[in-house]
Amino acid sequence: MSSVTLPDFTLKAEQVPLFEPNVLDDAARDALKSRIAEKLEALGAVLIAHYYVDGDVQDLAEATGGFVSDSLEMARYGHNHDASTLIVAGVRFMGETAKILSPEKTVYMPTLRAECSLDIGCPPDEFAEFTAAHSDRTVVVYANTSARVKALSDWVVTSSCALEIVSHLRDKGEKILWAPDKHLGKYIQEQTGADMLLWSGACVVHEEFKAKALIDLKKVFPDAAVLVHPESPASVIAMADAVGSTSAIIRAAAELPHDTFIVATDRGIFHKLRQLNPKKRFIEAPTAGEGAECRSCAHCPWMAMNELQTLDRLLSDEAYRAGCEIFVDPAIGERAKLPLDRMLQFQQTH
Ligand code: 13P
Ligand code: SF4
Repeated sequence: MSSVTLPDFTLKAEQVPLFEPNVLDDAARDALKSRIAEKLEALGAVLIAHYYVDGDVQDLAEATGGFVSDSLEMARYGHNHDASTLIVAGVRFMGETAKILSPEKTVYMPTLRAECSLDIGCPPDEFAEFTAAHSDRTVVVYANTSARVKALSDWVVTSSCALEIVSHLRDKGEKILWAPDKHLGKYIQEQTGADMLLWSGACVVHEEFKAKALIDLKKVFPDAAVLVHPESPASVIAMADAVGSTSAIIRAAAELPHDTFIVATDRGIFHKLRQLNPKKRFIEAPTAGEGAECRSCAHCPWMAMNELQTLDRLLSDEAYRAGCEIFVDPAIGERAKLPLDRMLQFQQTH
């Protein structure tokens, strides 16, 4: 077996866009929401949003018969829904996944500039070289990847099902090549004991959570439970009362008996956490502390691009909309659909 030495695929600060939110007053937001709702209906489109996007966009999705969820359930919902036009408010891999699973549907996103550091940090050509050099391994990729990377894989997983799928492969004696998130990969490796070779990408949001500052915050709120998304560093995961996907975090907040929670994931999730648990207190896990480049920067700059104004433009301006449609090369889509179908089927039967 030949091997490839991997460079560090963690993004540099200059590769991450700075995001300036458009501020609207309540009346303007309400007017915009009504207009968007009407236009969604006129287009016969269903809006599917991730828990990290603007709370108003999440509310609109639910109020107009659409859906808000984690990345796995977004994929399943879009696939099973009757609508022939899907609008995916999230990041590009989510729109691509919807298109791969339902190539006959038209899929738009408010902007195709909404990327993901894990996707950017896993270029398909380098990844193809990596898989070729380790052809004895089963290739498992995180959903946060491009269609071309998915097309090179045996399995796609999200953080909702990664542990179960890797445990299943370990039980069959398979050795795994994992990409792209090194923190999630390490966590799964430790939990399952599977033989895993890891790519070295990271999420620019979760990577910033700091264990030292979290220890200090826990001293201020000793009774708080700590909820952590597994894209965070191992030192932060080690302090968690619950570790899991966005939907697992939402479940844990409802089920745990605590009144106060420190949450290490994108702050967009606070909208749903507070809606579902109005009497509980939610505090952002700190990103400040030794080695941090910003204070409380726990918001994905790409998810933040899914603003009401952008969504309104998508629905109002045909020329703009034409530039926001997701296209996946049919041959790549067909190949990428195999590991995605495998994941959905596994989830259904386990
Ligand atoms: P979930 O699959 O948990 O929704 O996470 C997606 C994601 O991008 C986390 O940063
Ligand atoms: Fe990607 Fe991180 Fe943004 Fe999730 S939060 S979409 S992993 S950059």
